[in-house]
Amino acid sequence: MTRGTVEDLAAEAFENYKNFINPPLARVMKLSGSPVEVRASGTTIWDQNGKAYLDFAGGYGVFTLGHSHPRVLAAVREQMERMSLSGKTMFNVVLGRAAKRLAEIAPGDLQLSFWCNSGTEALEGAIKLARAATGRGKIVATHGAYHGKTLGALSISGREAFQEPFRPLLADVAHVPFADASELDGALHDAAAFVVEPVQGEGGVNVPPAGYLRAVRAACDRAGALFIADEVQTGLGRCGYRFACERDGVVPDVMTLAKGLSGGVIPVGAYIARPDVWNRAYAKAPLVHTSTFGGSEIACAAALAAMDVLIEDDLVANARARGEQLLDGCRTIALEYPQVIREARGLGLLVGVELTSEGYGGWIIPEMLKAGVTAAWTLNQQRVIRLEPPLIVSESEVDIALGAFSAGVAAAAEKLGHL
Ligand SMILES: Cc1ncc(COP(=O)(O)O)c(C=O)c1O
Repeated sequence: MTRGTVEDLAAEAFENYKNFINPPLARVMKLSGSPVEVRASGTTIWDQNGKAYLDFAGGYGVFTLGHSHPRVLAAVREQMERMSLSGKTMFNVVLGRAAKRLAEIAPGDLQLSFWCNSGTEALEGAIKLARAATGRGKIVATHGAYHGKTLGALSISGREAFQEPFRPLLADVAHVPFADASELDGALHDAAAFVVEPVQGEGGVNVPPAGYLRAVRAACDRAGALFIADEVQTGLGRCGYRFACERDGVVPDVMTLAKGLSGGVIPVGAYIARPDVWNRAYAKAPLVHTSTFGGSEIACAAALAAMDVLIEDDLVANARARGEQLLDGCRTIALEYPQVIREARGLGLLVGVELTSEGYGGWIIPEMLKAGVTAAWTLNQQRVIRLEPPLIVSESEVDIALGAFSAGVAAAAEKLGHL
C-alpha cells in the first residue's frame, strides 16, 4: 500500500481498474474525483493524501459499528490464530454460538439460521427455503425492490435496467406496489412467499406507513405464503430498531441479513427462519442447501462480537437519536432549496433525500466529497441521495455532514439553476 508516491497510488488504482476490473466504471470514478481509500477507523476513511472523510455512504450500510471496530478486530484476530475457515466435517462451535446469539436478538420465534457470505446469497437461500417449505413456486416481491444481483435475487428485484441483459430470469415471479397491501390477496394466491424490505433502501429510501407490515403478515397468513423480511440493509439497528419489522411488531417467517451482521470486518450473510418453516423444508434433506465458505469461524467470530457491541453499546438508541437529527437537518435544507430537493425521508440512520432532478446529485455528491463527507446514490433510484453513516456517529459529526450537504446543495443550486 505504501509503495510509490501518492500520485503513483492513484494512477495505479485507476490503471488497474481500467485494465483489469471495469473500464467504464474506472472512467466514471475518475471523472467524479474518487480518491483511493487507504485506511479507515470508526466513522472515518482516509485517502492517499491523508485527507479524512466522514463516511456517510457507510459502505451502503455495512459499517453499522464503524470501520475496524476494535472488539470485532480482536475477536477475528484471536479466532484467526486458532482456525479461520471451517473444515466442515466437525462441529463448528463459533457458528453455533453466532446462530444462538442471532436467535436471541431476532424477533419472536425466528430460530434456525443458515450462514453465507453476502446479502444476495441470503435471499437465494430464503427463496429456496420458501419453495421447499410450501411446495409452491411463485415468489411475490415489490416494485422498486433491491434484493441482490445473483439470478434468483435479481429476478425478484424491481429495476428493469439491472434485469434486462440477463433474461430469462426466474419464472413465476410477480411484483406488486410497495407500501400498499391492497393487491396482496390476489397476488399471493398459490404463492410460496412475499419478499419485502421493511424500508426500501436501494429503491430510494421508501418508508411505508406504519401498519403496512401487519397487513402483509395477515395477507401471507390468509394465503398460506411465507412472509420473508429482507433486513439486509434495515436490520441490526440501522433503522432505530434492532430489526425494522419490529416497528410494526410483526414476526416474519424468514428474515434475511448481511451488511452490518459482522460489524464491517468480514463478509457475512444469513437467513433465519421459524422452526416449523425450516422443518417443512429441510428436516428430511439437511444437505440440499449448503455453502463451502458460509459460517466460517472468522466470520462468525466477527458476527458474535458485532451483535454484542450492538446490544451492549445500545447503538439502536443512538441510531434513533442521530437519525432524527439527520432527518430534521435534511428537511430544513429541503425547505431552503425546494428547487433542488423534493423530499427528505428515512427511518433511523437510513436517510434519503429525493432531488427534483437526477442531475443535481452529480454535483452535490462530489462537492460533499471535497468537503470531506461521503454520500451515495441509491442503486434503483438515482434521484435519491442516501445518507447512512455508522450507528456510532456523534451529534457533532452529523452536524458536520449536514454542513457539507447544505453547501453541496447550495453549490448545485447556484451552478445548475433550475433543471
Ligand atoms: C435489502 C437488500 N437486500 C439484498 C442486498 C444484496 O446484498 P449483497 O450486495 O451483499 O449481495 C442488498 C444490497 O444492497 C439490500 O439492500
